[in-house]
Amino acid sequence: MARLKIAVLISGRGSNLQALIGACSAADAPAEIVLVLSNEPAAAGLQRAAAAGLPTRVVPHREFTDRAAFDAALDRHLREAEVELICLAGFMRLLTDAFVERWRDRMINIHPSLLPAFPGLNTHARALEAGVRFTGCTVHFVRTEMDTGPIIVQAAVPVHPEDDADSLAARVLEAEHQAYPLALRLIAEGRVGVVGGRTVISDAAAPSEALLNPVALPADAAPDPSCRN
Ligand code: GRF
Repeated sequence: MARLKIAVLISGRGSNLQALIGACSAADAPAEIVLVLSNEPAAAGLQRAAAAGLPTRVVPHREFTDRAAFDAALDRHLREAEVELICLAGFMRLLTDAFVERWRDRMINIHPSLLPAFPGLNTHARALEAGVRFTGCTVHFVRTEMDTGPIIVQAAVPVHPEDDADSLAARVLEAEHQAYPLALRLIAEGRVGVVGGRTVISDAAAPSEALLNPVALPADAAPDPSCRN
């Protein structure tokens, strides 16, 4: 079967790009990266792409007078490479509505929270502030409103009492590196449909157990009296 041709759009570190490179290097991978695009010439992810022998292009947003012209340049590169699916992976530019619509159901993103909780930036600090016991990441189809769109895969991780934003980000990032390749594989295998604003995934199994956090306390654990209301 022909492999799905994907482009990965980055602005920085590129660890999710690396996870996708790994996933696409398997002999039986259903997708191949035909282009890595960055708006930042200094993005570390470009080195990762070059090391993997992948074609890269830089489209520096500062050289464009408006967003439409920038998006048109992106679009030209994507069409030239005959891209079928765009994977946003830490791409820090807002795309125009016209571009998003042109790539509707053919553009996915990874976001470091369990959407619809914590859209936008600083997700880990906000999760800690809110006191949630789980957070995670979401891979979703892109819609014009930021961090919305049909959800394909989510991965949940526990929040630990001693966490700060950095330790939580590191735990979520590990989950991202599992979730993004999985979402890509499901799409490339033709198992993901969008129906009524939600995804339908054929032949996917879901976990059956509830996750608790905190886990059950030892029987002899003494409650802290100051915590009583
Ligand atoms: C990730 O946390 C991703 O969820 C967010 O941007 C970050 C990119 O990290 N959209 P990397 O460049 O893939 O390492």
